[in-house]
Formats: sequence, C-alpha cells, structure tokens
Amino acid sequence: MSASFTPSAASARPTLAVRLAGVTRRFGPVTAVDGVDLEIEEGEFFAMLGPSGSGKTTCLRLVAGFDQPTSGHIEIFGETAEGLPPYRRAVNTVFQDYALFPHMNVGENVAYGLKVRGVARADREKAAREALSLVRLEGYESRRPAQLSGGQRQRVALARALVLHPRVLLLDEPLGALDLKLREEMQVELKALQRRLGLTFVFVTHDQGEALSMADRVAVFADGRLVQVGTPEEVYERPRTRFVADFVGSSNILPADLAASLGAAAVEASLRPERIALFATPTEIPGDRLRLEATVTDVLYQGATRRVMARTDGGLDVVVSDAGHGPRPVLGTRVHLAFAAAALQPLEAA
Ligand SMILES: Nc1ncnc2c1ncn2[C@@H]1O[C@H](COP(=O)(O)OP(=O)(O)OP(=O)(O)O)[C@@H](O)[C@H]1O
Ligand SMILES: [Mg+2]
Repeated sequence: MSASFTPSAASARPTLAVRLAGVTRRFGPVTAVDGVDLEIEEGEFFAMLGPSGSGKTTCLRLVAGFDQPTSGHIEIFGETAEGLPPYRRAVNTVFQDYALFPHMNVGENVAYGLKVRGVARADREKAAREALSLVRLEGYESRRPAQLSGGQRQRVALARALVLHPRVLLLDEPLGALDLKLREEMQVELKALQRRLGLTFVFVTHDQGEALSMADRVAVFADGRLVQVGTPEEVYERPRTRFVADFVGSSNILPADLAASLGAAAVEASLRPERIALFATPTEIPGDRLRLEATVTDVLYQGATRRVMARTDGGLDVVVSDAGHGPRPVLGTRVHLAFAAAALQPLEAA
C-alpha cells in the first residue's frame, strides 16, 4: 500500500478506480453495452442496476477482462486496461453462481487463486484462513461446498475473491440465489465488510431496493445504455426518465397537459405514491398543495403501508401509499389527492 503523504491540491480529487469511456460491446446484431461513460471512485460502493438483458454482466466482464469492448476505452486506476488479461487487473469477480470447485474443500477453493500464482502452501493456507475469518467462516476449511448452506457458499466465494487482495471487487448478483431473510442479512454484512476493508465494490443487481439501500451511487441501465447515475436519493427523488421513475420504486406518471394544468412544466412528470396525501374534504388541505379530485377504485392493505388506487376525474389511475393509520377509504367514494409542487418531477423524453 502507498505510504502516507500530505494531500496536494491535485490529490484532493478522489482517485478513479474504474473509468469507462464510450464503451460499446456488440454481439452480432445485439448491442449489449451501448456507449457507456462511467467513473467509479476508489472506495465507492457502486451499484449497476437494470432489468434482465440490460448489459450489466457484459459491462462487468469488460471491466474484469473476460471480454473486450467492440469500441471505447477502459481504465483501472488510471491504467489502460486494453490488452491486460484478467489476472493482471486490480480487480476480482464474485460470480452469481459462485463457481466453487465441488471436488475441493473450502480451504482449497479459497486458496486456489494463490496456488495458481505459485504462492507456497503454508502462505496460501494462512491467507485462506484470514480470508475465511473476514467472512466469519473460521474452521470451515475442510468442508466441501456441498456441505454448506447457500449463504455459507456465498461467503466462500467472497473469501476466494478477497484472498487475492483486489482493489476493486466486481460482484454479479452475489445475493441472487439466497432467500429473502438471508439476503437481507448478507446485504448488511457485505456493506460492513466493504466499509471495513475500504474496497471499491461494483455490485450488479436487478433489485432496486438492494441497490438503493447498499450503494453510495447507483447506475441505472436500460438496453445497454446508462440512463442515470447518482446517489440513491438522487435517482429515487429525481428520476430523469419515465423508465427510471418506474424501475426504481414505483411512480405515477402525469401526462404533460395535466402537469401544465397544475402549474408545472408542460412535460410528463413523476409523482411518487408516498408524496400524495388523501383528504375526504378539500377544506382540510393545506393551502399550498396542488390537488386532484378522484374516486377510490381499490385499497390494498400491506401491513406497514397501504396502497390506495384512485381514478381522477380526468381518467388517470393514481396510486397513493400511506402508513394506513386513518380509516380505510371506501371503494367508490370521492377523495382529494394533495401534494406539494416540489413532488412533481419533470421527466425527459427517453
Ligand atoms: N456472448 C454473447 N453472445 C450473444 N449475445 C450476448 C452474449 N452475452 C450477452 N449477450 C446479450 O447481450 C445482452 C445483455 O446481456 P447481459 O448478460 O449483459 O445482461 P444482464 O443485464 O446481465 O441481464 P441479467 O439481469 O439477466 O443477468 C442480452 O441481450 C444478451 O442476450
Ligand atoms: Mg447478468
């Protein structure tokens, strides 16, 4: 690791761990990754979020060096990645299916990368033990992968990647195979480990909740393109396009003429369900609120929240989400939907 030094003006800027400039990867007629520009800072927990087939894995494989861009440029810690094989890059990958060797025990699985690099047996066994203790699997060295639970297998895969001391860890849906409860536990553990080790994580997921809760920044992909990148708050509160508004959380999309009639810009606008309050009578509504009249069409009780579906007089179906403490709205009754002007987020045409 680098020695300590006095930060100069130049080094006050964060170090770039990974940079993609105009990266495109085509497979015959399919453009899997389409002109992606991206900068990931050292120490960031960076999530790549997008639906199936949006190019996330392809992007990760390009950074790892398992695949080459059709055009564009990739840098890892300022060094051109072109021509560098995977093992020469300061990155390592945790694959979605873990890809553990079934005939090797846990210790051998974790030490495998070091063996390939010619590290002596005693040294690699020590390093494997250390890596296993990072993921809280001390003492599991002699078990085979088949004798582990899903969450333990996931941690072995993580230890196997960490043992090589990558500066950047690429994780492709690492929690995808786990059930919800375990997945949530591992989310907390992974995040804590990333913070503790100060590593850069590039974390692929199609689960928007996972991306929002774990990442420092989220990149949203659609059809191979990067459509928005920002902090979880920015992406959720200020979705730029209809796709982002729909894919990250759920949203009501108000047509341009309705937005204009409410005094907003005459473009489509996103309005999050939890930003709308329901009122039985208009006199209760604070004066600065925008309002729409509607009829209740459905009520879904969900425990911690309640979703009320209402159709406006203009024929737009609107979803309202609240904590569900008030009386249950009755189907067919008239309600007033009220929201702050700032809750309307103007959208760009995709
Ligand atoms: N080797 C390949 N040959 C041809 N097409 C490919 C190849 N690899 C990926 N693709 C195509 O590129 C597109 C992006 O695939 P990719 O695996 O990157 O998506 P993804 O976002 O990781 O999806 P998922 O969430 O399902 O894992 C898809 O249309 C896929 O079919
Ligand atoms: Mg994938």
